[in-house]
Amino acid sequence: MNKENVLVTGGAGYIGSHVVRDLGEKGLNPIVYDNLSTGNRESVLCGQFILGDIQDTPLLRETIQKYNIKSVIHFAASIVVSESVGKPLEYYENNSINTFQLIKTCIETGIENFVFSSTAAVYGIPKTAPIAETAIMTPINPYGKSKMVTEMVLSDVSKAYPYFNYIALRYFNVAGADREVRIGQNYKKPTHLMTLALRTALGDYPHLNIFGTDYHTADGTAIRDYIHIDDLSNAHLLALEYLEAEKKSRVFNCGYGTGHSVLEVVKITKEVTGIDFLAIPTNRRPGDPPELVADSTLIQKELGWKPLHNDLHYIIQTAWEWEKKLKGAGRREQGAES
Ligand code: UFG
Repeated sequence: MNKENVLVTGGAGYIGSHVVRDLGEKGLNPIVYDNLSTGNRESVLCGQFILGDIQDTPLLRETIQKYNIKSVIHFAASIVVSESVGKPLEYYENNSINTFQLIKTCIETGIENFVFSSTAAVYGIPKTAPIAETAIMTPINPYGKSKMVTEMVLSDVSKAYPYFNYIALRYFNVAGADREVRIGQNYKKPTHLMTLALRTALGDYPHLNIFGTDYHTADGTAIRDYIHIDDLSNAHLLALEYLEAEKKSRVFNCGYGTGHSVLEVVKITKEVTGIDFLAIPTNRRPGDPPELVADSTLIQKELGWKPLHNDLHYIIQTAWEWEKKLKGAGRREQGAES
């Protein structure tokens, strides 16, 4: 029997490449569709690779038809909260308009299952921590808003076209690298806390900025729920199985329910690396909520998702191994914006 083909947009990116790895290990055939604007060709460990932009509707349609695609996992997007504040048009274009066009093509080509990379940023400044999926979406930055719009489109479309179902996975702070250190985060212009902390430890930067020490949190720095990439990847496979079996649309948080402050991340990064780098308090970064922690009861109950790596040391350790490997191999992406 032929392996089932699954279209993965943005499959050469950080999260996409881990999901592609797992699809392959599960005996599925990922069809990776990526324009390599932020992804890396060598991160695609299996399946077929197509160099394509989601704006290229004819190529997208041809790909879906050629590979007889029934399921799509959509990653291709812009993801930096702070960047979205200065570039709202780019974010709405890439995350809302282009995704809208993709959804339209999916409807026209009879796609049945759609897994969407959403984000905890749709919650804005949550009134509770942990926060459940039932909370109202009140995003405070263009990134979160651009993802919220797509969730709304998906909800309406799935009601109007009963053969089309989706699962929106609201990611909290994804971090860490592949257990065998084959793939990991390699953005052209890193902005994420852990990457910057590790690269500061490696001596690439003179110091790490701590954006905001006056939040209403125990140590004054912002709190996030860091989820290991392998646990997040597994959620996508379970989402696909659920869609195929249940044919129902759902929204799930992806996080551990454990919050860590920026200072805690810095402390554990120093422990893991054994390097005492400089971390300097500075102003808050625009668009940053003080605290984002997931209530992940629903995904555990409904998809049977079991977090295996709820351990900041392990998360940072895998990212550290990856960063050392990247630097050693001179394989870091440089220059252009991500
Ligand atoms: N931070 C610093 N110094 C840095 C970088 C970050 O103090 O050099 C702080 C930020 O201000 C924030 C925290 O570390 O308080 C985490 O910041 P990241 O940039 O690592 O991640 P974000 O929380 O801004 O965003 C990430 C993803 C989004 C996703 C969000 C969900 O990039 O796509 O997590 O919480 F929506």
